[in-house]
Amino acid sequence: MNAKPPASPRRAPASQQAQSVAVAECPTDLGGTVGITINGQEVKVPLGTTILDAARQVGIRIPTLCHHPDLCVAGVCRICVVEVDGQRTLQAACAYPVMSPIQVHTHTRKVRMARRHIVDLLLSEHYGHCYACNRNNACELQALAREYGVDFFRFGHPERPAFEIDHSSYSVVRDNNKCVLCRRCVRTCIDLQEVGTIEVLGRGSASHIATFLEKPLGSVVCINCGQCINRCPTGALRANDPTDEVWEAIHDPAKHVVIQTAPSPRAAIGESFGEPAGTARTFELNTALRMCGFDRVFDTNFAADLTILEEGTELLLRLQKALVRGEPAPLPQFTSCSPGWVKYLEHFYPEYLLNLSTAKSPQQMFGAIIKTYYAAREGLEPKDIVTVALMPCSAKKFECNRPEMDDSGFKDVDYGLTTRELAKMIRETGLDLPRLPRSDFDAPFGTATGSGVIFGATGGVMEAALRTVLELVAGIKVEDLFEHADIKPVRGFEGIKYLELPITRVGPVPPLLAHLFESWDFLKGATLKVAVAHGTANARKVMEDIKRGGPFSQCHFIEVMGCPGGCLGGGGQPAPTTPEIRRARAQAIYAEDAGYAVRKSHENPDVLKIYREFFTEGPCGARSHHLLHTHYTERGRFIE
Ligand code: SF4
Ligand code: SF4
Ligand code: SF4
Ligand code: FES
Repeated sequence: MNAKPPASPRRAPASQQAQSVAVAECPTDLGGTVGITINGQEVKVPLGTTILDAARQVGIRIPTLCHHPDLCVAGVCRICVVEVDGQRTLQAACAYPVMSPIQVHTHTRKVRMARRHIVDLLLSEHYGHCYACNRNNACELQALAREYGVDFFRFGHPERPAFEIDHSSYSVVRDNNKCVLCRRCVRTCIDLQEVGTIEVLGRGSASHIATFLEKPLGSVVCINCGQCINRCPTGALRANDPTDEVWEAIHDPAKHVVIQTAPSPRAAIGESFGEPAGTARTFELNTALRMCGFDRVFDTNFAADLTILEEGTELLLRLQKALVRGEPAPLPQFTSCSPGWVKYLEHFYPEYLLNLSTAKSPQQMFGAIIKTYYAAREGLEPKDIVTVALMPCSAKKFECNRPEMDDSGFKDVDYGLTTRELAKMIRETGLDLPRLPRSDFDAPFGTATGSGVIFGATGGVMEAALRTVLELVAGIKVEDLFEHADIKPVRGFEGIKYLELPITRVGPVPPLLAHLFESWDFLKGATLKVAVAHGTANARKVMEDIKRGGPFSQCHFIEVMGCPGGCLGGGGQPAPTTPEIRRARAQAIYAEDAGYAVRKSHENPDVLKIYREFFTEGPCGARSHHLLHTHYTERGRFIE
């Protein structure tokens, strides 16, 4: 059963909403088609299609800057202007819905001169040097300057910066000197994520992107998701990059540097080397990392499997508390793997913090294990170990710097690297990733399962948890309920998914959980209700529904990922990230899952071994509570 989420009022201030042009979300909804002639080529398109999209259908590329396929139309940069017969002025192709037959000319002299003029004007206020910019060779402004033959600054060029660079956030660096006021970041933060950290302030030449009260980003409500970075066309927004520190650690002979890699970067890093989206390079990446100088390469999926056992046990304990003892238990339980979502809840719905699973994210679990279990096993001093995490996400940089993330006695994860940053390190080592030989992960965490891999896609944590909870509770093979153990109702990019699973029979309690449960009888006949949401705008719909006592308040378990599409659409992934690219990355992730011999977390032999050797009290035991679980912080709604 799929529930339709209730509509929520949009939080975008009127100033931003007014800039939107009403273009039908699905042009065919208007019914009928219309003929349009573009540069002499005729094409029939559904009514309401923009000139930009119609041109794409006949292979004509019109340049864009403020346009982004994930965002509503802004029509502010005018770089996409075209001539339309009968119209006195040039028209913005991205904001012109075709409602009657028209003749369009996309590259006339008048059009080219106008575009050149726009680029020149942008550059006249743009302080930055491409060779010292992290977007060099991947910058849309630079590409436009090249395309329109800019070889001198016709309207001058600023000689000094007008804005201070804001380094206050663990995740995002803001450099307004390179901003072209396309407002993609604003629309991302307000419309897509419904956080509302940044806005356009001022008028005319005083316009600039600003935070609440112009405070540093690290002092205002920002969930660090980096979605704004991923959509920024220039170097005005970038992630806080620790690659110099990581290189320093690698070159320090006294340091043992280990890296864990998450599944989403592995499914996307090929894009940074010119490969089509959806080309997973998991095992070539292992080779590259060793050649870069990392001492050990571990698979975050190992910790993802551990997360499922800890988080799944926690859910069963909450259900036991509610159903057997009749005591209040914080249900629905929310997943806690996504640091953007966790911070969103801390800011906007702190009254539900108890509902968050206390299980740390796989990144943080792994960090704590490396500096305890692994250090002891290898005879290493934890202070000499440097742990690095390759993540799709800029919020992971914030997460590893949370003061409570030091349960090993040290900072559990020293540095979070995004996919883009690691690609830079690999290029700096002179390696062509796709051409490298494949190699495996290192022991003792070399075994992972397909369940760990699918953490990278929205619905993946839920699917992994259901595979384990259903088998451990019902004592049946998931394959008997879902073909190939693929729980398809929780897959896909629908904003909110909902599933009910009746538990018609229960099996024996497995030895791993025997210290916590005598039997599963309390679950017999119950119906497990779960939901999945991705992107914080969807999370907000779920939370508002829960507050109203709506259908989602009856759920037992809800997965929320802060980024659209889940981790595969993380803010640290290669840009651009579009709906098609997210789909391709998801396919790569599910293909990798299908290829694993072991696809369920509770069957991971290395995870079972760590419970035998180290977390001897089992899941949710004292030691795992100390190292693998955490707590959360109530935060302000306006400032940090
Ligand atoms: S933002 Fe683009 S144009 Fe500006 S300095 Fe960086 S690479 Fe060059
Ligand atoms: S990181 Fe996320 S929350 Fe922060 S400003 Fe960017 S889009 Fe908004
Ligand atoms: S910061 Fe980037 S995305 Fe935001 S308005 Fe400036 S150029 Fe556009
Ligand atoms: S891309 Fe059309 S107005 Fe900016």
